[in-house]
Amino acid sequence: MKKTAHAPSNIAFIKYWGKKDNVLRLPLNSSFSMNLDGAYTITTVDFSPQYNRDTVQLIGGNFSAQEEARVVKALERIRLKSHTNNYARVLTQNTFPKGAGAAASASGFAALTVAAFEATGMSLSEKELTIFARMGSGSACRSIPDGFVLWEEGNMSENSYAHSLYPSTYWDLRDALVIVDSSMKKVSTTEGMESITTSPFLSQRLKIIPSRIERILNACKNKNLTMLGEVIEEDCLDMHHVMQTQIPALNYWNNTTVLVMEEVKRLRSLNVDVYFTVDAGPNVHCIYEGKDESKVLEALQKIQGIETIINNKVTTGTHLIDQHLF
Ligand code: PMV
Repeated sequence: MKKTAHAPSNIAFIKYWGKKDNVLRLPLNSSFSMNLDGAYTITTVDFSPQYNRDTVQLIGGNFSAQEEARVVKALERIRLKSHTNNYARVLTQNTFPKGAGAAASASGFAALTVAAFEATGMSLSEKELTIFARMGSGSACRSIPDGFVLWEEGNMSENSYAHSLYPSTYWDLRDALVIVDSSMKKVSTTEGMESITTSPFLSQRLKIIPSRIERILNACKNKNLTMLGEVIEEDCLDMHHVMQTQIPALNYWNNTTVLVMEEVKRLRSLNVDVYFTVDAGPNVHCIYEGKDESKVLEALQKIQGIETIINNKVTTGTHLIDQHLF
């Protein structure tokens, strides 16, 4: 059967950086994110006896042998669970650059998990889907539920899952994703996380995270962007501090990354409520409320050296669509 899923990427306000189980991808800490409507993946999966191996293709790009092997592994897990023996053809399309810290693996594995299970004819609960997506790429579990999503770290596969805390309509937050470099990052998140314990600041980070999550939940409950933004920036800088103090040191930023952060701070000094966060890449997510859209975008567009801006609203989670890619 052939099925197609549409999955949003997500931006983490509390970041996932480090695993306590590399195979199951159990994270060292819980994380919190919102789904992005402008950066998404569409994936069609077809399981059929006519295929004699799995094939995985990206429209307008290529997967490395390593990336392809990771998708095939995910298909094997799905075959095992659904008692299907057929191989699959997978065709996928992103609206944004892969491997540049814009969470293509999140939307990619979320779309793959939902399309593939449906294509085997097996209906899993949302919780189970998030668990399977997590095993493909940790952050992918957060792209399946609606809106604002918490990934509970758990201590085993069954209780490390993501669920929605608020629907996408709850709060008109925006994310202007400023692409400053769309080329593929040199160190993948999987590889980067492997040396996390070499940072002397990791234990401090892990101690602080539960209180940050409390603050985030409180800020969301009260729709208080100033409170939310302070925690978003704190946690972003903290994660990059851990990355930069790992051995070997991992620096994902470039000069334009810093220019965008400075512009965000300048806007705040003019009473525009906007905050930055950066994932494992140089690109900067600027979080603000819909009412400030024109002021924020006008200022960001003027920054020297940026490639493009993908503007996002909060959106629903992964869902099936009728238009197949093949
Ligand atoms: O899911 P991965 O392996 O691509 O890791 C994502 C890690 C960060 O983007 C840096 C943080 C996060 O929580 O999304």
